[in-house]
Amino acid sequence: MIQDTNSNTETWWKTGVIYQIYPFTFADANGDGIGDLQGIIKKLDYLNDGNPDSETSLGIDAIWLSPINKSPMIDNGYDVSDYYDISDTFGTLADFEILLEESHKRGIKVILDLVINHTSNQHHWFIESSSSKDNPKSDWYHWQDPAPDGGVPNNWLSYFGGTGWTFNQARQQYYYHSFNENQPDINWGNPEVKAAIYQMIRFWLDKGVDGFRLDASSVYSKDKYYRYNPVKFDSTDNNKYNNLHHLYDKDLPENHQIIREIRTIIDEYEDRVLIGETFINSTLYESAIFYGMNNDELHLPFTFEFPFSPWYPGYIQREIAKKELITPEGAWASYFLDNHDIPRHLSRWVECSLCTNPLGIAQAAAAILLTVRGTPILYYGQEIGMVDNEDIPAEQIQDKIVVRSETQESPESRDGARTPMQWDDSVHAGFSFGKDTRTWLPVHQNYKEVNVAKELKDPNSILNFYRQLIRARKNNEALRIGNWRSLIHYPYEHLAYVRETNAERVLILINFSYEKDLTIDEHISCDNWQVLVSNIREVDKIIDLPTTLEAFEVSVLRK
Ligand code: NOJ
Repeated sequence: MIQDTNSNTETWWKTGVIYQIYPFTFADANGDGIGDLQGIIKKLDYLNDGNPDSETSLGIDAIWLSPINKSPMIDNGYDVSDYYDISDTFGTLADFEILLEESHKRGIKVILDLVINHTSNQHHWFIESSSSKDNPKSDWYHWQDPAPDGGVPNNWLSYFGGTGWTFNQARQQYYYHSFNENQPDINWGNPEVKAAIYQMIRFWLDKGVDGFRLDASSVYSKDKYYRYNPVKFDSTDNNKYNNLHHLYDKDLPENHQIIREIRTIIDEYEDRVLIGETFINSTLYESAIFYGMNNDELHLPFTFEFPFSPWYPGYIQREIAKKELITPEGAWASYFLDNHDIPRHLSRWVECSLCTNPLGIAQAAAAILLTVRGTPILYYGQEIGMVDNEDIPAEQIQDKIVVRSETQESPESRDGARTPMQWDDSVHAGFSFGKDTRTWLPVHQNYKEVNVAKELKDPNSILNFYRQLIRARKNNEALRIGNWRSLIHYPYEHLAYVRETNAERVLILINFSYEKDLTIDEHISCDNWQVLVSNIREVDKIIDLPTTLEAFEVSVLRK
């Protein structure tokens, strides 16, 4: 009997597909060169028009919007100056309400990015807090006196590099920021701060949003004594975030208490989801803790195993197997290939593995993401095979990471993965109609070849492969909730795994190379497999289990 632990709880955030939108560059409705909410509304039918047999829509179930609140946009929205309003860049609260309504009409849930580790330094809380030592909000951020020599209070760093402390003249004190200096971390130890944030969370839930993606959700709490973080013994640069053991500024017990409190609020509302960025460089184990001891914290912790994997079957399989082992009973995993902080997977993998078959990688990666046990999260444009734009002129760079260190250079700008969505081969790739306007970031030069309109017409396009996989997932219980089991113990050329419930078994075969001979370690019945999705075999045909695969074959078969 196959243990089917989750079959009785098929909620949308477990079985659906989530699609991340970067609002600056998804669709521009007013022609100013910058994406906006009206633009997203216009493209909802592409995402899901509500018709399960649609010929033109992708069929996703939820959108996650990178931040749309008012912001001076130094970190492009991850620096909020008003949690209750929408940035003029993207539209108005009324536009957001329409977006919510139009999405819900089509069965699309809406998830907001919640940036509550820090605010912008333009937020009125910080303006007040930084004005003096004795104002009512003086304790709403992390203020510390200088060290006896006038220097920074301790060795805590910014994730972007260099010290995380910035001096403030009015208070003659330093404040701490995990990211840029214009993103001061709020003091979660203060009950008034908590109350203010929780009130704001209710505001958006009352509006009808279906959940949140918590930004940087493992660094909310800080040690109340501001103790030094130990430096790793092999560190060659103590100004680098990853060279410290983050004992006192990350993953504190109080942090889990905060997430539990937010979860309690979420649970008062029906069917909402809490996703959390357990932070880049958390190990899988650290991230698993974020489900909570009683599954009472995050529904879906974000972990970065695929983004940090090389394109190699053995490695990828080990990451999946680890996640299978570490996901607690009753909890649910999520997976993603790309997001707005990292190079897109085709840029990472095609270049780094010197692979000459980008289409093969795109199809194989799509198949893995959409057939593992866990919620898949797509990043806009990956479904058409967008790659990073590596030719953005310096004066057009939008990502302004500030590093306060003499030994550290600024990390690469993240703009390459944030360029306009490529809708068609018209001006600005159909992203913006403003002929004479400059788009927020330059459109990738390959837009005439790589775009939605062209790929919708081509049955063999990456986009149509994604559409087929998403439909297969929708229509097959085993792909939605079935157990995962590998049929090759030490994969070198191929992945072969099954997803199964008592009712159904689906077999996924992926060839990473030109190697044709397929050897699986386990006996599995050979006849009568129906082809669900394949880049080689005829869909719907009943076949015997193949003993050889074509080069870069990706086939999903059902019994
Ligand atoms: C994580 C976000 O994904 C990233 O884009 C941002 O710069 C930092 N958090 C700070 O909010």
